[in-house]
Amino acid sequence: MTGHLLIFAEPEQKMKQHSFELVNPIPLPLSQLAPVPELFTRHSPIHGQPHVSRVIIHTFILTKALGLEDYALKAWAAAYIHDLGRVDDGVSPEHGLYAVGKVQDNPELKTLFEGCGVKEKDWTEIFFAVTHHCLEEVPLDHPCRTLTALLKDADGLDRVRLGGLDPSFLRFPLSVSLIPYAWRLFRNTRDLAKPGQDYFEILWPVARQLLQKET
Ligand SMILES: [Fe+2]
Ligand SMILES: [Fe+2]
Repeated sequence: MTGHLLIFAEPEQKMKQHSFELVNPIPLPLSQLAPVPELFTRHSPIHGQPHVSRVIIHTFILTKALGLEDYALKAWAAAYIHDLGRVDDGVSPEHGLYAVGKVQDNPELKTLFEGCGVKEKDWTEIFFAVTHHCLEEVPLDHPCRTLTALLKDADGLDRVRLGGLDPSFLRFPLSVSLIPYAWRLFRNTRDLAKPGQDYFEILWPVARQLLQKET
């Protein structure tokens, strides 16, 4: 235990001061926005498709709320990829690097992202964010800081699934305001559907409804 205060019961707290929106910034149907279970190295109830789907949802909300719409495409790609290479559910500083390797070895996956507008020059930043999402903090003046911070915060918000989330681990104040929504999203959708091709499509309207309910 680190000595940080863990928050175990947030769902009744209302989001304040900001009106959040959930819109799809990616030119793909909903069913293609999250990786299917077969793309993961290992099936995991903790780090599999439902987790990654919620991280993608948080990424969309955060990029819009922060006025970082220019990052939405890269942030989606990074969120989509970030846990594909996990080989176990424990502490694993190298699993971001494994995920990068999976994309580099999968031309179809690269084509999916590039078909949505990801450019060759974007891969450096996306791969950096994915590699570092499970490593130490990136300096504020690092050129890949913003994308990495977006991924770390969106991923961090879904730590509610583990029973607790330390707000001081989040980087953007708006991410802290999203904690009640993260709880609500997880608790209201954990038994919604089985992972599969249509998982994100089923999750999406519920995620939107829960956000409206909060604001
Ligand atoms: Fe991860
Ligand atoms: Fe993750």
